[in-house]
Amino acid sequence: MDGARPLNADAVGLGLRRALLGPLRSAAAGDFDFLELAPENWIGVGGRYGEALRELSARHPLVCHGLSLSLGGTAPLDETFLIRVRRFLDQHQVRCYSEHLSYCSDDGHLYDLLPIPFTEEAVHHVAARIRRTQDIVGRRIAIENTSTYAHPHQEMSEIDFTNAVLAEADCDLLLDVNNVYVNAINHRYDASAFLAALPGERIAYIHVAGHYDEAEDLKIDTHGAPVKDAVWALLGEAYRRFGARPTLLERDFNFPPYAELVAELDTVRAVLREHAPTQARQAHG
Ligand SMILES: [Fe+2]
Repeated sequence: MDGARPLNADAVGLGLRRALLGPLRSAAAGDFDFLELAPENWIGVGGRYGEALRELSARHPLVCHGLSLSLGGTAPLDETFLIRVRRFLDQHQVRCYSEHLSYCSDDGHLYDLLPIPFTEEAVHHVAARIRRTQDIVGRRIAIENTSTYAHPHQEMSEIDFTNAVLAEADCDLLLDVNNVYVNAINHRYDASAFLAALPGERIAYIHVAGHYDEAEDLKIDTHGAPVKDAVWALLGEAYRRFGARPTLLERDFNFPPYAELVAELDTVRAVLREHAPTQARQAHG
């Protein structure tokens, strides 16, 4: 087991992006409570970026959100990479390692996340790979519900598939509320019913992000825009149902001024106080 302390339930975080290094390094205390980074982009990095990482990880708790593990894929797991991840998690006292419930095309390093077929066979396949990953990194991992635009093959619903994987792998969940919203519109299911069916005790942390309205019935998960009102509402619903959880604002490109990201984190805090007031107080002790 890792020795890193869990994040406070009301912690809010930002992605550690190279484009944001300047403002993140000179951030005021309390702008954010933790940072999330993709290990693929930071393991073994030296020079001025390595220096920035050492400085930021000494000052702020980190979580890792992987890009390339391809848990749904058929290529062998990259165990050499996972050994390096374990070292990185230990070295930086990383609070959580999460990955996607999807797979990468071809050799698994194109960062192109594809949907897993929702079948019994895929449940066993993915769960075995998650268990193996947890064995190698020496801790539980969290897997994220992803946004999808087509389903290759579906014997069961997304919620049944997700829950079957979580139970069989005995892992945690990274709940992306924007992905729930986007999938609920695109695949015409009820977002509230999806939330209600999730095992809340497994939720390690939450992602919230902006998306693009391609059409009334087609939303694209872009991480390139401010969070929309409907997603703030779904976040509030998640807090009411499950209580406070650490929450990460995802923004991958089209970066606004840093102050606007901090203002969005303040909105996360306000949603948390409104919808999980008791837990917000408890988290502050
Ligand atoms: Fe996400």
